[in-house]
Amino acid sequence: MADQRKDNTVKKDKIIEIVNLTREFEDGVVAVDDISFYVRKGEFITFLGPSGCGKTTTLRMIAGFDKPTKGKILLNGEDISYLPPNKRPINTVFQRYALFPHLNVYDNIAFGLKLKKVKVTYEDKEGKRFEKIEKLSKAEISSKVEKALKMVDLEGFEKRSVSTLSGGQQQRVAIARAIVNEPKILLLDEPLGALDLKMRKDMQLELKEMHKKLGITFIYVTHDQEEALTMSDTIVVMKDGVIQQIGTPTDIYNEPKNSFVADFIGESNIFSGTIVGDKKVRFINHNFDCVDEFKINEKVDVVVRPEDVTLLDAGEGQVDGKIISSIFKGVHYEMVMRVGKAEIVIQDTIERKVGETVSLLIKPNDIHIMAKEFSSNKYDGYITKRNTVCFGDGEFECDVTQLYPGSILDEEGYLITAEGERIDLTDVDVEVEVGLKDIEISDDADKGGAIGNIVSMIYKVDHYQLIVRTDENEEDFVFDTEDTWNENDRVSVIIPKEKIKLSLKQEIKR
Ligand SMILES: Nc1ncnc2c1ncn2[C@@H]1O[C@H](COP(=O)(O)OP(=O)(O)OP(=O)(O)O)[C@@H](O)[C@H]1O
Ligand SMILES: [Mg+2]
Repeated sequence: MADQRKDNTVKKDKIIEIVNLTREFEDGVVAVDDISFYVRKGEFITFLGPSGCGKTTTLRMIAGFDKPTKGKILLNGEDISYLPPNKRPINTVFQRYALFPHLNVYDNIAFGLKLKKVKVTYEDKEGKRFEKIEKLSKAEISSKVEKALKMVDLEGFEKRSVSTLSGGQQQRVAIARAIVNEPKILLLDEPLGALDLKMRKDMQLELKEMHKKLGITFIYVTHDQEEALTMSDTIVVMKDGVIQQIGTPTDIYNEPKNSFVADFIGESNIFSGTIVGDKKVRFINHNFDCVDEFKINEKVDVVVRPEDVTLLDAGEGQVDGKIISSIFKGVHYEMVMRVGKAEIVIQDTIERKVGETVSLLIKPNDIHIMAKEFSSNKYDGYITKRNTVCFGDGEFECDVTQLYPGSILDEEGYLITAEGERIDLTDVDVEVEVGLKDIEISDDADKGGAIGNIVSMIYKVDHYQLIVRTDENEEDFVFDTEDTWNENDRVSVIIPKEKIKLSLKQEIKR
C-alpha cells in the first residue's frame, strides 16, 4: 500500500521511509502486514492503535532490534533494514525504561557515552591530517550529561540514586539517557505508560516542548488517543498490523476513513445507514441531508460526534427521543438520548433532564459517511421461551446449545451445561450473526421468520446482493443470491437453523 498522506513532501524532507514492511513471527503471527509510510525530518509522528496491533514491532524494526520478513526501511534514502542498532542514529525510550538501579542519575545517563568511541581528526606538525578513534573525555561526557539533564529539567539530580526518584523523574532520566547520544531520531514506546494521569499530562507537554527544543524527529507509540491528538504532527492509526489512516490529528478526528478509526479516535456515534438519494442518508428512521456522495442503496456507516448533535425542544428538530442519562463533565453535559433502539451520546453545555423528550438536529456537514465493510448481518436478539430467537423483527428456529459448548436441552427445554448446570434461557439477550450466503427468501409469507420488502438489488459481477427491509423497525437482511427478484417484492426471510450464530451478550447471572 502506498503512503496514504496527501501532500507533496519532497524526497529530501523524508528522514525515514518504510516500504512494504512485514514482520511474520515464527509461529505464523503477522504482527506487521505490508505497511508503507514516511516520516518527515523533525516531525512528531505517532503510532496509535489497540494492544497487539504491531506498534512495538514496527518500532523495534526501525531501531534495528528486529528484522523485517519483507520490505525495507530507508534512512535518508539508504536501506538500513539490516544495519545493527548501534550503527543507526536512532535511540529508543522504552516503556519499561530499565535504569540501572545501582547507579546514580549521572552514571545512568553517562553509561552509553563512556562506551562510545568517536573519530577525532588531528593535524601533525607538517599540517597533515590523521584520524584517531578515541573515547570521549571526562569533560566532554560531563558537559553532555549536564546538557541532557537540563533538557529534562533534572539539574542538580546527578548524585541521586535512581531508586529514590519518582516515576516521572525516572522517566526523565530514561529520556535524558536517550537524548544524550544526540540521535537524529528518538523512538518512544509508550514512555508515559507507567505514570499516573496527572503526571502523564504534564509529561506530554514537556515532551512536546523537548521535541521543539531538540529539533529532532520523534516517533512515538501510544494506545491513548487523547495523547496522540495532543502531541503529534502526524498520526498513523494501526489495527491488526495494517495502517488504517495517516493524517494530522484534525484530519483523523474530522475525517475518519472507516468506522474503526472513528470509534478509536474520540467519542462518536456510529449508525448503520443506507443511502436513499442524492446526498441523503437514512438512519434512526429519518432521511438526513449529507455532503458525501455515495451510490443509492449502499450500506454505510454514519459517524456523528457527540458535540455535533444539537438538542431542541420536542418536535423542533429532525428526530425526537428521550434523554435517558445526563452526567456533568466539567465543561459540558454528556447526555444519552434514546431513539427507538439507538442510544445517542450528545455533549452540550445546556442540560436536558433525564426523562425529557427532546429533538435532535444534525447538520449535513457533521454527518460523516463511510463505506461499510459489510461481511455479515449482525443483530441484537433474545431467546424466547420456546428456545427460538427473536431478531430483525422476526422469530427464527435456532440451536441454543451453541451458547454453552457441550450443553444439551432436557425434555422441558432447559439447557443443561457440560458441568450439569440447568439454565433457563428465556429472555436472555444474544448477539446474532448471519452470513451473506445463509439467507433465502420466499414469496410464501408463512415460510420464513420475518417479512419485508426487497428494497435493493445490486448486481455484483456474478450474483445479486439483495436487501430485504422489514416494516416495523426497518431491520435489514443483506444476502447474496443468484436468483432474480424484483425490487419491492414482498417476501419472507428464511434462515436455516444451523446458520444462525448466537453469542451471549453477557454472562448470565446465576
Ligand atoms: N517475538 C514474538 N513472537 C511471536 N509473536 C509476537 C512476538 N512479538 C510480538 N508478537 C505478536 O505480534 C503482535 C503485535 O505485537 P506488538 O508488541 O507489536 O503490539 P503493540 O501494538 O505494541 O501492542 P501493545 O499496545 O500491547 O504494546 C501481537 O499479536 C504479539 O503477540
Ligand atoms: Mg507495544
